[in-house]
Amino acid sequence: MNEITLDVKIAKTQIDRNIYGHFAEHLGRCIYEGIWVGEESSIPNVRGIRTDVVEALRKIKVPVLRWPGGCFADEYHWMDGIGPRAQRPTMINTHWGGVIENNHFGTHEFMDLCAQLECEPYICGNVGSGTVQEMSQWVEYITFDGKSPMTDLRKANGREEPWKLTYFGVGNENWGCGGRMTPEYYADLYRRYGLYARNYGNNKLFRIACGASNDDYHWTEVMMEKAGHDQLRGGPYMDGLAIHYYTSVKRLPDGSREGSATVFDEAGWMEIVSKGLFMDELVRKHSTIMDKYDPAKKVALIVDEWGTWFAVEPGTHPRFLYQQNTMRDAIVAATTLDIFNKHCDRVRMANIAQTINVLQAMILTDGARMLLTPSYHVFEMYAAHQGATMAPLDIQSEAYTFGEVSIPALSASASVDGAGTLNLTLSNANPHKDITVQVNVRGMNGSKAQGRVLQGNAMNAHNTFDNPNAVAPKPHTGVKLAGEGLEIVVPKMSVVAVAVQ
Ligand code: AHR
Repeated sequence: MNEITLDVKIAKTQIDRNIYGHFAEHLGRCIYEGIWVGEESSIPNVRGIRTDVVEALRKIKVPVLRWPGGCFADEYHWMDGIGPRAQRPTMINTHWGGVIENNHFGTHEFMDLCAQLECEPYICGNVGSGTVQEMSQWVEYITFDGKSPMTDLRKANGREEPWKLTYFGVGNENWGCGGRMTPEYYADLYRRYGLYARNYGNNKLFRIACGASNDDYHWTEVMMEKAGHDQLRGGPYMDGLAIHYYTSVKRLPDGSREGSATVFDEAGWMEIVSKGLFMDELVRKHSTIMDKYDPAKKVALIVDEWGTWFAVEPGTHPRFLYQQNTMRDAIVAATTLDIFNKHCDRVRMANIAQTINVLQAMILTDGARMLLTPSYHVFEMYAAHQGATMAPLDIQSEAYTFGEVSIPALSASASVDGAGTLNLTLSNANPHKDITVQVNVRGMNGSKAQGRVLQGNAMNAHNTFDNPNAVAPKPHTGVKLAGEGLEIVVPKMSVVAVAVQ
């Protein structure tokens, strides 16, 4: 019954590394405390950026980082975040708790962070409350190599050479916090703002349009029709179109969510795990609309915000979106990455929200202390798929049923890397039952297989600052070469990674 079949010879589509991308917003303790501690901090740092966090993120090979928001992006005025820090003006972060933003982490600091992480920057510009000129000048400040007022300013601020900037978002959630626009109105603004975000010298921008919330297919239809195909003169005007989808129990009128990240029963487990799988339908349906206008798949689908969203941890600021992270989040991470891998012909970037201390974070910090979440470990175990060639899978899985809801217990991805190693990742959503799966591998005679497993002792197993390694990958003994493939035990509520050579 539980059987996976793949043929490495028909693997042809590359999994874009950027599917394993991240997102860091000026929200709660993501940037400040999580990343930026300042040069005077007793927490070890390089030019103000936490060393422990950079080292941990480098291990999961962060390919791309989106910044400065989120809803913050459409309130952010980049010129406030350059120049001597002591002289930078402050602002109120109205969307995220009305706290004072001192602008100490700005363009130079973000580009330094990306350099330290060796990842690509993805900057989101301000359409909601910013001008065309402001956005245009930001791109000029960052990327122009010649002499201009903006490059003079950049040099005066200590940066002689332009930076390379590829990924540029023209607004965020402009249907909501980014301006409450209709898709027709935003599409026109996108065309206008996108035009003045220029390519300078060899720097070619990859322009990303704000996309739909969840299943708002009308938004995608309008954006593709007005800006996403090559019958437009000089079109398509975009390189990527975004969508956002959060997995949550229930959204409340103030935007917050119901349901604890750690206190839940099996109904809560099933609700979140099954809602996570809705990403597959979203990707398929948005892609179908894109296919109509762009059959050559020139325009990428960019899932630049995704992840679980729960009620904040008790006692924390309601607008700081600080939540714990359990094996339930790990299963959502694994199954969602499987969906992106499967659809890698159209999905070419995704950014889990958010890197540190916010929503489905990779890392939580408490002063100088830091812990890695189960979701972090999934990203580390899945990193082998980055840039590899996806091997399509036929998955026959038994069902996992709770109450009225039934889902396949197994989810998986497979890819072949440049060295010819077949990497398989599998997860088992059933919290009660281990599953043994026969994996039939065609087109390859593996002689060695090694596995690791991420498993907790409960659905809500998680890491704490006192016990930071309660959930961490371990060598997996339940992997053996068998027949024309492998036999793999996928323990209950676990994620397994296997490398076959
Ligand atoms: O990630 C938190 C918020 O969720 C982002 O700022 C916004 O774009 C989305 O609604």
